[in-house]
Amino acid sequence: PQAGTGREAEREPEPDMQRLASSRRLLRAALAPGRAHSSLSAAAVAAAPENGAGAPKMPPFAYTPPPYDGPRVAEIAQKRAQFLSPSLFHFYDRPLNIVDGKMQYLFDEDGRRYLDAFGGIATVCCGHCHPDVIEAIVNQAKKIQHSTVLYLNHAIADFAEALASKMPGDLKVVFFTNSGTEANELALMIARLYTGSHDIISLRNGYHGNAAATMGATAQSNWKFNVVQTGVHHALNPDPYRGAFGSDGEKYARDIQETIDYGTTGRVAGFISEAIQVC
Ligand SMILES: Cc1ncc(COP(=O)(O)O)c(C=O)c1O
Repeated sequence: PQAGTGREAEREPEPDMQRLASSRRLLRAALAPGRAHSSLSAAAVAAAPENGAGAPKMPPFAYTPPPYDGPRVAEIAQKRAQFLSPSLFHFYDRPLNIVDGKMQYLFDEDGRRYLDAFGGIATVCCGHCHPDVIEAIVNQAKKIQHSTVLYLNHAIADFAEALASKMPGDLKVVFFTNSGTEANELALMIARLYTGSHDIISLRNGYHGNAAATMGATAQSNWKFNVVQTGVHHALNPDPYRGAFGSDGEKYARDIQETIDYGTTGRVAGFISEAIQVC
């Protein structure tokens, strides 16, 4: 959900809901022409017909989604505004209504095809509606959808074994969670319990989730509320383009060491960082 870095504007203290609305404005500003993250502005991408003037040509693809006759952009936007939290926002002034997905492609309400380079906010890498994935989901859902780890069922153990077999080194134990926030909350909790230390080193500009511990690890003002967030120390992020030390990795490493030496007891529970910061 990284939307703007919080550095775009000086703000008066605001109630939380207003802050979310202002995140929305910052997001729009960040995506405005000239601030766009890519050479094509968001509006241009949304407006460009597939393979039309200015749009990169996509290869042929042997799938055409069935004609869509469901609710369209205006109706969905109106219903969202009425029944969902005002904290939700969307990309683009005229938001995309994504109605179909197949492998690496998405289709909007008019059947227009998009290459999905953002799957699951850059976290889901199995594409859309892969037949093997669908088959596994349907087969399991037909048998039983949920019990609890307090009872036995072979599926979770088989899945853990299959995942562990793909992992390198000592990464052989799996802990399933429902979201990135939950995974990071758990990782921070495990690190703290195992080490007996509370301090965590995180990187500025990072996003790790929006619950108690992960909000502390997150380092973007847009995504923080005014609640207690203890024990996280934010070192400089090694951004080769905008970072204080350019691409001098040793200087960033030294900043982490100094953060530990001068900001903590010297014993930290762990270090958390995205493999690649996506904003
Ligand atoms: C790097 C990173 N970590 C954690 C999260 C939180 O994941 P979730 O939204 O599934 O709780 C996100 C979500 O965008 C993320 O991008």
